Amino acid sequence: MATQKQMLISDISYIIRCCTHSVVRIGLHLQVYHLDLASLNSVRACAKEIRNEEARIDILVNNAGILTSRRKTTEDGLEIHMGTNHLGHFLLTNLLLDKMGANPDGARIVNVTSVMYKFASLDPDDDLVVGSGAAEASSLMCYSKSKLANILFTRELSRRTKAMSISCYAANPGVVSTGIHGYV
Ligand SMILES: NC(=O)c1ccc[n+]([C@@H]2O[C@H](COP(=O)([O-])OP(=O)(O)OC[C@H]3O[C@@H](n4cnc5c(N)ncnc54)[C@H](OP(=O)(O)O)[C@@H]3O)[C@@H](O)[C@H]2O)c1
Repeated sequence: MATQKQMLISDISYIIRCCTHSVVRIGLHLQVYHLDLASLNSVRACAKEIRNEEARIDILVNNAGILTSRRKTTEDGLEIHMGTNHLGHFLLTNLLLDKMGANPDGARIVNVTSVMYKFASLDPDDDLVVGSGAAEASSLMCYSKSKLANILFTRELSRRTKAMSISCYAANPGVVSTGIHGYV
């Protein structure tokens, strides 16, 4: 939410906001699309809608994130932190990539990560589904792994989009008092 408020007071005149339910409206042209990052079907549907409706995308901020104490899986059977914080964004970004790459003025992708990545390591065979390695890890560690995945994704995306005039960044907003801390 803090990232979203910052966007609303910066020099951006048209915002596409994807969210599960609530909407902040501060007098700007704001288009809202429903998106549940914990559902790959929802991500695909949202990307399709955006591709059909929007002429161009200049900036994609993959900001949404959860930290929950509940051991849960997404509807696709993925560990909930990895599924929501990384894989949902991963799929959304890839489905919008060619549209962003076609932007004559270039485009920017910002993945919002966290300093918690420093405490994590990743095992792709183990960390995606509950019932394997992720089941043994604490919620905070699952969150940290997803934040490390944000960074690794950004690095690889940056390499792959060099020829497309897309700049990729991983940003850590610092510590901000938001709903996400309710679960710590
Ligand atoms: N706060 C901090 O101290 C801190 C520190 C480091 C990094 N971060 C990162 O900053 C980002 C934003 O977190 P925040 O602190 O602003 O937390 P927040 O206020 O709880 O906001 C989280 C946002 O994620 C969205 N979201 C959650 N589950 C979703 C889902 N399944 N599908 C689509 N959207 C979903 C929520 O959308 P709805 O409004 O629709 O529910 C909400 O807008 C996260 O990536 C977090 O890891 C935060």
